[in-house]
Amino acid sequence: MTKFIVIEGIDGSGTTTQSELLKEYLLGKGEKAIVSPEPSEGIIGKFVRSILQNKELINHKNQNFDEQMAYLFAADRYDHLYNEKNGVFKLIKDGYYVISTRYYFSSLAYNCNTAKEWQLVETLNEKFPQPDLVIYLDLPVEISLERIKDRSLKEVYENQAKLTKVRENYLKIFANYQGNLLKIEGTKTETEIHNQIIEYDHIF
Ligand code: TMP
Repeated sequence: MTKFIVIEGIDGSGTTTQSELLKEYLLGKGEKAIVSPEPSEGIIGKFVRSILQNKELINHKNQNFDEQMAYLFAADRYDHLYNEKNGVFKLIKDGYYVISTRYYFSSLAYNCNTAKEWQLVETLNEKFPQPDLVIYLDLPVEISLERIKDRSLKEVYENQAKLTKVRENYLKIFANYQGNLLKIEGTKTETEIHNQIIEYDHIF
């Protein structure tokens, strides 16, 4: 059964929109479905979000910033998957489809600039299970920047140099990925992308 679905892509690629559309579609079919993002809504996730928004005292210009973030995201991920109240596996046990915008793929894509960091992030995440399906929305960086330019709350990673590296990392990850993967052109319309998702292998 395809119950744990992850949607990945650079900022502005439509991960949030598509997760909501998929949730509504599943609810419309009488299924239980929930969007459960990373960073999570839990205490570590909220802390991580405040760092991304520059509110905490971790200097994002510090050389070790991405490494620090990788540790924090891994801690949040553990809580997101396994907490007994509303963790991913608890929800699946209760019969939900769980749609996560972002998972460990984001740590590889966003928190790695060097081979050494890649190695660290792989190690930090090696015990986390593969999702049943990962949907990757591929978008050129110029279009991403155009889409996010009017966002009132800018986050740390939303700039051209970073997103160029992030997209390069995503392409590397998914070129070698052995699990269940659906790659979609993020330049398609919202409806086209949604239809491609729900028609994929007739899993939904
Ligand atoms: P989002 O709410 O737009 O998805 O933003 C989450 C941000 O956090 C996005 O810039 C990607 C970043 N991120 C990481 O750097 N590492 C991670 O492991 C995850 C899950 C997200």
